[in-house]
Amino acid sequence: MEENVNRRDFLGMSLAAVAAVGAGGTLFAMKKTWDPLPSVVTGGFTTVDISQLQKGELKTFEWRGQPVYVLKKASDDKKVEGRDFELDGEVYSVGLQVCTHLGCIPKYEEDKKEFLCGCHGGIFNSSGQNLSGPPPRPMTIPPFNINGTKLVFGEEGDIYKQLASKA
Ligand code: FES
Repeated sequence: MEENVNRRDFLGMSLAAVAAVGAGGTLFAMKKTWDPLPSVVTGGFTTVDISQLQKGELKTFEWRGQPVYVLKKASDDKKVEGRDFELDGEVYSVGLQVCTHLGCIPKYEEDKKEFLCGCHGGIFNSSGQNLSGPPPRPMTIPPFNINGTKLVFGEEGDIYKQLASKA
C-alpha cells in the first residue's frame, strides 16, 4: 500500500511538473505572438543616416519587416522625375526592395545599375521602374521624411508626397 501511494504521488507530481512546463511554454509563445515587431515598438519608424553612402552605392534596411533600399546615384546617372529626389546636390532613389510581381526580393546589380528578380526574371532600373519581365509596375516608394542627412521611413515628408503624387 505504501508503495502504491508513493507511486501515485510521484505520478501526480510528474504530471503537475509536465503541465507547468507546458503552460509556461504556451504563455511564452502567446507573449511572443502578441509582442509587436521591433520596428513597431519604435513607432513604426526606421531612421537611416545616408551621409556615408558613396556615389553608386546601395544600402538595404529593414522597415516594418520589409527591405527598403537607398541608392545614391552615380554622377553619370540621370535623375528620373517622379522617382528620384535630390539632397545636398546628390540624387537618391528609395524603394521597397520587393518585386511587384509576386513579392520576391530583387538583387541590385551594381555594374548593370539594375535590380534583377531571381524568381521570374523581372528587371527594374536603378530608380525602381519595371523594365522587363512580369512585374506590372515600379517598386513602391515607402513613405519617408528627410531630417538633415537622415531619412525617416514611416513619415510622409514633402518630397515623398511630391513623388507619390506623380506615381
Ligand atoms: S516575383 Fe519577381 S518576377 Fe516574379
